[in-house]
Amino acid sequence: MAKHTVVTMPGDGIGNQVLPEALRVLEAVGFEAEYIQADIGWECWRNEGNALPQRTIDLLAKHKLGLFGAITSKPNKAAQEELRPELRGKGYVYYSPIVTMRQKFNLDICMRPCIGFAGNPLNYIRKKAVGFDEPQIDTTVFRQNTEGMYAGIEWTNPPENVRSALASHTKFNAFANVPGADLAVSVRVITRPAARRIITAAFEYAKKRGFKGVTICEKPNVVRETSGMMEETAKEVVKNYPGLALWSTNIDAQLMWLNKNPEDYNVIVASNLFGDILSDAFAGLVGGLGFAASGNIGEQVAVFEPTHGSAPKYAELSPAIVNPIAMILSAAMMLDHVGENVKADRIRKAIAAVVQEGKVRTYDMMRLSGGPKAISQGAASTNQMTDAILAKLGREQAAHA
Ligand code: NAI
Ligand code: MG
Repeated sequence: MAKHTVVTMPGDGIGNQVLPEALRVLEAVGFEAEYIQADIGWECWRNEGNALPQRTIDLLAKHKLGLFGAITSKPNKAAQEELRPELRGKGYVYYSPIVTMRQKFNLDICMRPCIGFAGNPLNYIRKKAVGFDEPQIDTTVFRQNTEGMYAGIEWTNPPENVRSALASHTKFNAFANVPGADLAVSVRVITRPAARRIITAAFEYAKKRGFKGVTICEKPNVVRETSGMMEETAKEVVKNYPGLALWSTNIDAQLMWLNKNPEDYNVIVASNLFGDILSDAFAGLVGGLGFAASGNIGEQVAVFEPTHGSAPKYAELSPAIVNPIAMILSAAMMLDHVGENVKADRIRKAIAAVVQEGKVRTYDMMRLSGGPKAISQGAASTNQMTDAILAKLGREQAAHA
């Protein structure tokens, strides 16, 4: 029997194009696994009124390991209109299946590596007094995935009991006369145990990679209570890591430093919204959506996915043109998670070799506008990019034989 069972969820659009490519690569490195494909996404919503069916939740609960492509989501009105006629008006509400998955399984640690590959024409370059340089960016953002500004506790026109609770804070005096319909409130929630888990995950990673420390990126001078609790917890956690440092930056300043000296930041930990912003910002320095992988890691279940969405514009193109590297890197993160680090490193080395060589590039790497013409303009297809990665893996295997 295979050692692992992976629940594969291609989802919508290009999720169906990139996920099978990752499976080809996993197979090539000899990952012993069985794969069970599960339903998620827009078709499930349209046909069943639920984008994350219970049968998929059950499979994840059982097998604990998920590989996910991407889903399509649309605003509420469009969602209702696209429901199968017999389901309309029956009270079905669209919820994002990813958010639901994170909440159901408490996938509270989101890990987003933003690590540049040498030779990637999309890498960030920096002007110097004379000429340019290309800093080696090796940043991994640890984003708290379940709380903070995304906890979902929010109102427009808050109910009376909420309003009076808010009125118990003197700072609410400034808003006391705002009519309910004109007042929107989103609650930022931080809990100490979740803060400790994400910060500990960041320190564990720093220790494993041999980095000197971790940066906590918040805004405790202004958002005193919630950012304050993140910072305070970080000061506690660092005590368990003798030899590692804790640095602290504010989110606004960090985004400025991102353009000045991104190579100085190896591990950054942040609450949900700040981590979301930071990980996209850093991803933009190392190739963007075609390279941005992520893991959503809970105590029981872990799901790995590219951060890109379903890119419906390109979903119907044949051959497929999108870059499979983000998905393949996500699969490598899954290997790390189950202790198959050697296989994961082989995958990353093979990708590095393809990027370095520069012969096979998807349209995004050539800065072409994506579309049916991309291939005739010299871009590699999704499939050809994977083939190139497989060829590097094969060559390396032959060299070791
Ligand atoms: P998107 O990430 O799907 O695509 C934006 C653009 O980025 C694409 O048009 C394409 O130019 C580029 N792109 C994305 N993936 C690429 C790849 N692998 N290789 C090369 N280029 C790539 O975001 P968009 O267009 O805002 O959303 C489309 C749908 O995806 C929406 O329904 C949205 O709700 C959903 N979405 C789902 C996510 C998920 O499944 N985790 C995340 C983001 C959006
Ligand atoms: Mg995704």
